[in-house]
Amino acid sequence: MPVLDRRAAADWIARWDIQQLGYLPDREERFTALIDAVEEGTAVPNPLVLDLGCGPGSLAVRLLDRLPGATVVGVDADPLLLTLGRIAWPDRAGLRFAETDLRTAGWSAVLGLDRQADAAVSTTALHWLPPVALAAMYAELGAVLRPGGLLLNGDHFTEDDKTAPTLARLGRSLIEREESRRFPGGHPETWSGWWEAVSAEPALADEVAARAGRFIESDHHGSPSGRLATHIDALRAAGFTEIGTLWQRGENRLLCAVMGG
Ligand SMILES: C[S@@+](CC[C@H](N)C(=O)[O-])C[C@H]1O[C@@H](n2cnc3c(N)ncnc32)[C@H](O)[C@@H]1O
Repeated sequence: MPVLDRRAAADWIARWDIQQLGYLPDREERFTALIDAVEEGTAVPNPLVLDLGCGPGSLAVRLLDRLPGATVVGVDADPLLLTLGRIAWPDRAGLRFAETDLRTAGWSAVLGLDRQADAAVSTTALHWLPPVALAAMYAELGAVLRPGGLLLNGDHFTEDDKTAPTLARLGRSLIEREESRRFPGGHPETWSGWWEAVSAEPALADEVAARAGRFIESDHHGSPSGRLATHIDALRAAGFTEIGTLWQRGENRLLCAVMGG
């Protein structure tokens, strides 16, 4: 069985980042704003941060570049993306990955936390959880975060098409316009193109097979979990107090919620 080396894993992640940028022209700016908020909002040199739906660790390593005293636990259900991250950064101080499905009650038990977290961060991930699982995940997160701890969730959060159709339409349009300004020739690589390519990597055959059994990509397009109101309601029910948008372009927002208690 061939083994993926560190350089090859880093190349797949670099290609992942380009693929994601095609859908999120403000991806790096949103990462920067999110990390600014972790730095300002936790106000400790050694914050414990959970990266929910971390993928191969793009946000986690950017966060550690800026906050070298932090500990980041990258949480994801995808064995292939986690393998890329583990191979690319085997000895990165402060970084570890945990495989767990955020749709499953008790997901936080496998993280091996020795204290409450100062912040939970996430990018382009939590809208994948069905609404009931999303609400349960936020409730469990409430027990893992310290009082005053932050959730910082960067994602597309849509307005309601029925109650705010103009805002919903403009929220989408601003992003589409920015995408075509930055990438006039279309996506550098599509999501399915990246997955097709990585799935043909012989050294990742086991991970490709394991991933197929996880059903992570259950149909999330058009799910209520893409709506801003779904997140605000679930966060409030989970005990978060202040909830609001810190950074935004169209429907692409950085949502911040402060844990009460
Ligand atoms: C579009 S990717 C974003 C990855 C990363 N946060 C980034 O910004 O590059 C969505 C991520 O959410 C993860 N995810 C989706 N559903 C999940 C679940 N139920 N439990 C854990 N992770 C999940 C996927 O495996 C994937 O890594």
